[in-house]
Order: sequence, then C-alpha cells, then structure tokens
Amino acid sequence: MAYTVIRYENGRLHALDQTQLPWKSVLVELGTLEAVEQAIRTLQVRGAPLIGIAAAYGVCVALGETATRDAARTRGEEAVRRLAATRPTAVNLFWALDRMSAVLADLPARGWLARLEAEAGAIHQETEAQDAAMAEYGVGLLAAGARVITHCNTGPLATGGRGTALGVLIAGQAKLGGLHVYVDETRPRWQGAHLTTWELAGHDVPHTLICDNMAAILMRSEPIHSVWVGADRIAANGDTANKIGTYGLAIVARHHGVPFYVVAPSSTVDLALADGVGIPIEQRAPAEVATPEGHRLAPDGTAAWNPAFDVTPAELVTAIVTERGVLRGPRYDLRAALGAG
Ligand code: MRU
Repeated sequence: MAYTVIRYENGRLHALDQTQLPWKSVLVELGTLEAVEQAIRTLQVRGAPLIGIAAAYGVCVALGETATRDAARTRGEEAVRRLAATRPTAVNLFWALDRMSAVLADLPARGWLARLEAEAGAIHQETEAQDAAMAEYGVGLLAAGARVITHCNTGPLATGGRGTALGVLIAGQAKLGGLHVYVDETRPRWQGAHLTTWELAGHDVPHTLICDNMAAILMRSEPIHSVWVGADRIAANGDTANKIGTYGLAIVARHHGVPFYVVAPSSTVDLALADGVGIPIEQRAPAEVATPEGHRLAPDGTAAWNPAFDVTPAELVTAIVTERGVLRGPRYDLRAALGAG
C-alpha cells in the first residue's frame, strides 16, 4: 500500500487530509502559513514527527515570494513563532523549528530559500531513516504469532516515514507473520478507529478494533503478548507523554504482566526536562468530547474535560525503542543514552 502523507515539491506543500480518512483520501495543498497552522491545529496533519516535518516545510511556504534576505529572515522568524503556537505537547515541533531558526539566523546572501528547503527536506529524510531503524530494533521484541494492543495512530500517517510503534508492527507482520493487532479506538478523535485500522488493512496486518476501555478484559480473556505505543515527548528519565489513554493502558498492562513498549525517535526526547511533570499537556475543545464529529452525546450545557495527552511514568515502560537501539527499564537515563549526540 502506497500513499503520500506529505510532499514538498517546487515550492508547494501537499498533505493527506487525515480528518477525511478513512472515507476519503484527499491530498490538500497547504499554500500559505495560515493553511499550515490550521492543518496542524485541526489534526489534518498530526502525529509528533509529522507535525515537525510539516512545520519545517511551513516556514518555507511562509516565505512565498519574499524578495530580500532580510525580509525572508523577518517573515521566517514570524512563521517559526506562529507555528510554535499551534500545538504544545509534541516536542518534535519545537525541535524542527529550532533547526529552521538556526538556518534563518545564518541565511546565505544567495539561495536562502533553497537552504531552508534543504533543511526541511533533511528533517523529513532523517525521520524516514529513524523510522526504518526503529522498525528493525523493535521487531526484535516481537515473535511470530504475537497478539498485541496499540493506541492512537503511530503509522506512516504519523511520521511521513514508516511510523513508530505501528511501523514496528507492520514490519513484524512482514518479517515474522501471524501478528494480530488490537486497535484502541482512541477517543475523542478516533485516531485508532479511523487511521490505524485503515493503515493496518492497507498493509495486510490482521486487526480488531476495541473501545479504549476494553484492554483490561481483553488481557484477562486471552493471551496478549505486548502493548505498543508512540510518544509525543519523553523526559530524560523516560516519563512519556502520549495520546490520552496511554497511561491507563500502561497501568493495565503492568497489572497483567504484559510488556509495554514505547517507540520514538530521539527528536521526541526532551533532555531539558528531568521528568514528566513539566511536559505541557494540550487541552482541546470540550466539544470534541461532548459532540464528537457533530454527534451530540450529552445534554446541552454538559461540561467536558479534554486533555489530548497524558504522561506514563517511566517505571511502567518495559523498554523504549529509538533509532539508536532498545533501552530497557524500569530506570532510564536518556541523557546518557542519547545526549552524546
Ligand atoms: O493528537 P495526535 O493525533 O497528533 O497525537 C498523536 C499521538 O499521540 C501519537 O501516539 C504520537 O504522536 C506518537 S506517533 C509518531
């Protein structure tokens, strides 16, 4: 199955509109800075690594016909500020924008747009290479016939490459065979139901959709060999922010003695944070909970709480798979493991 998730060509940025999946596969042009901001905010483009890639290309899009290097620098810095305000939790966004800022600070007199485009392209290519390495390492933690649970969407749609956790599972099915993936629907935005099922079907990986509250009874009812998730930000001690519901799933896995694996590139690791307490958690509109996709679930005026992410304590994480290899818990020192560059 081949599909374009994001493409920047001849100065034009196109992205698969993930809010229309699985019903329609529509590649939309993000032709202005405003369109890129809007796409990230509304989850047309989502998943930590993909947000970073889209923002990097977004800086290039924002420059448009800018005529001079000074004007380009000013406009580029404004784009960086605005894109940084789109979503707070995935650190890949800030990591990618920091790289673009460094280029803006040192723009060549000629060919400055090409220099920015090269940096955005490098971020995209590095992500693809990291995904491939993580898939290789992660498959070593699977066995033929494994029955696993995953949460949210962590496939090619989330990274523009092979994916993180789902990339491992897709590679595992291709290499080992016999996998069965239970997919959390992932309320309130249904990334599991809408996106992960679509990607698993496209890659011929057998799967079953479950509600977010079914993992415990599933682990009690039949053998589940492991749980696989991605991450939006990992603190230096391994505390992991990921899609809301991940923390509960990790507790359930620990109770049932099921290994809980996090798969994320080093660009998702925030070494500035010693632990997960300081990770900013995005609060999204209450309407996503009370009126999902326009269907009213509760009486008018019902209050709803909508944190988009939660933080799983490192002690519940069996191992973290990055492009550098497999780090085993329950204690992590990501500064030592990754900080040396
Ligand atoms: O709100 P989203 O859909 O951007 O959240 C995505 C997730 O939480 C993923 O699990 C995470 O980005 C890791 S996948 C590469």
